Amino acid sequence: MQHPKITVRPRRLRRSAAIRNLVRETRLSVHDLVYPLFVDETISEPSPVASMPGVHRLPLSDLGRHVREAASLGIPAVLLFGIPARKDAVGSSAWDEKGIVQQAIRAAKDASPEMCVMADACFCEYTDHGHCGVLHGETVDNDATLSNLQREAVSYAEAGVDVVAPSGMMDGMVAAIRSGLDAAGHKDVAILSYAVKYASAYYGPFRDAADSSPSFGDRSTYQMDPANTREALRESQLDVDEGADILMVKPGLAYMDVVRAVREATHLPLAVYNVSGEYAMVKAAAQKGWIDERRVVLETMLGFKRAGADIILTYHAPDIARWLTDA
Ligand code: PBG
Ligand code: ZN
Repeated sequence: MQHPKITVRPRRLRRSAAIRNLVRETRLSVHDLVYPLFVDETISEPSPVASMPGVHRLPLSDLGRHVREAASLGIPAVLLFGIPARKDAVGSSAWDEKGIVQQAIRAAKDASPEMCVMADACFCEYTDHGHCGVLHGETVDNDATLSNLQREAVSYAEAGVDVVAPSGMMDGMVAAIRSGLDAAGHKDVAILSYAVKYASAYYGPFRDAADSSPSFGDRSTYQMDPANTREALRESQLDVDEGADILMVKPGLAYMDVVRAVREATHLPLAVYNVSGEYAMVKAAAQKGWIDERRVVLETMLGFKRAGADIILTYHAPDIARWLTDA
């Protein structure tokens, strides 16, 4: 058989693990990871989340142990979510100085002072209707919600949080939080903005975990339409202008192109949230023996890095940390 002479042979650089390691373009490190944790004010024993195997709601008394374990694995940051004992129309326990997240922030910092403690700032876990802010009729009142977000962020800062992570997709949320924090003397508390958050079915398992499903309607008047990319760039630019320190795209898997687009359009560190539904799918298939969990998870994480993410929020964080050390 005749064929043209081949001079360029990419396979030369794939011949051994040593050379593949040398030419590898993207690397995953434990330093990239943020581990989300759920703290529930109403329980005294860890309670498994059925749709997220391996994930538990934790009582406050258990949080320190989990934070120390994450630290011992080299995970640099945790993201705290609270499930309060008391819900009301505006979600006022979200800015209670003795609220569950405020106590969790203190406990996490006590357990591991070097851990970067982040806390999600929203209201859907705290409102009796499950929407992400104050209702006006059937819609979320943007500006009324901003005032509450300022109080929530300041109360987190007073508890010692390092990073406030607003997730409610209210217009102006980053500017409101920045000015609220600065006015209260918390100029060094950073903001990780859920800048580009789509109205996604992939949040289903999280809403079981955090007890935050809307009691009517959905979140499509505040979260983004999954069809839109240009809008993602507008949302990112707004948050840059409002003073965000880190941007985030969420969910991850179905939005890798958006991660790439935001990476190219802005200069801030960029995070991606590997959300609950993405985790649930991998766990379910792995439990059936249909996929190799470790390889699938590591490949997915590498995909996020390749798409341009610097930081990955993932429920797989402790497993990844272990796999990376015995790799
Ligand atoms: C709260 C919030 C949600 C998630 C993070 N913060 C749920 C939602 O917007 O309904 C989703 C996280 C996940 O699915 O893992 N606003
Ligand atoms: Zn919310």
